[in-house]
Amino acid sequence: MSKKITLVTIDGPSGSGKGTLSQLLAKKLGFHLLDSGALYRITALASLQKNIDLNNVDAVADVALNLQIRFDVSSDKTIIFLEEKNVTDAIRAETISMAASKVAAYQPVRSALLARQRAFATAPGLIADGRDMGTVVFPNAPVKLFLTASAEARAERRYKQLIAKGETVDKSILVKEIQERDDRDTKRSVSPLVPASDAVIVDSTSMSIEQVFDFMLNTIQKEI
Ligand code: C5P
Repeated sequence: MSKKITLVTIDGPSGSGKGTLSQLLAKKLGFHLLDSGALYRITALASLQKNIDLNNVDAVADVALNLQIRFDVSSDKTIIFLEEKNVTDAIRAETISMAASKVAAYQPVRSALLARQRAFATAPGLIADGRDMGTVVFPNAPVKLFLTASAEARAERRYKQLIAKGETVDKSILVKEIQERDDRDTKRSVSPLVPASDAVIVDSTSMSIEQVFDFMLNTIQKEI
């Protein structure tokens, strides 16, 4: 007998808090977690490590198809391995963020990663975090959330994170980078960042993380 799998998609722009909330919700519900952005980041990193020109669509898609990756979820923080090397922090570098959003605009790269993403859907359920989870990867998911916030609010959160890590940053540059990434993600022709027609939109600009968590958990629990 096949077990019921509850699919929850959480899409939204960079810095909206999707990553943190997806982790918290997966933990609370005992569900698996798909950080689809990590797959695009790893594709970008692996391509750069192999000295592949990021304009070479076919070569980058080939890297995406043949990625040897492993997610270790045994501790609180997921550890990501690329060819058995820990790349958890390396894929979060700003250069990789930009490179990831470039390779993510290629349809052959997206197709190469599709089956890998769908394979995450196992019982009892999955929280799928990304840009096109509700529109392309899991269009039949019963719960779809779209989390957003103003570019300024997202830059402010990122600014605080970087300052806490002891890094010096210019806030206006962060706003500009976020807007550039939004532009690239929403204006691309393949899988653009748009809410699914049946998604619940959550604008977290003036909400605390606890408020967003409670709202999302409530929405999910009503469905399951
Ligand atoms: O979510 P994260 O910032 O880690 O994603 C990195 C990049 O990967 C995004 O800027 C976006 O361009 C791309 N992405 C995507 N589709 C997804 C997840 C991420 O195009 N489902």
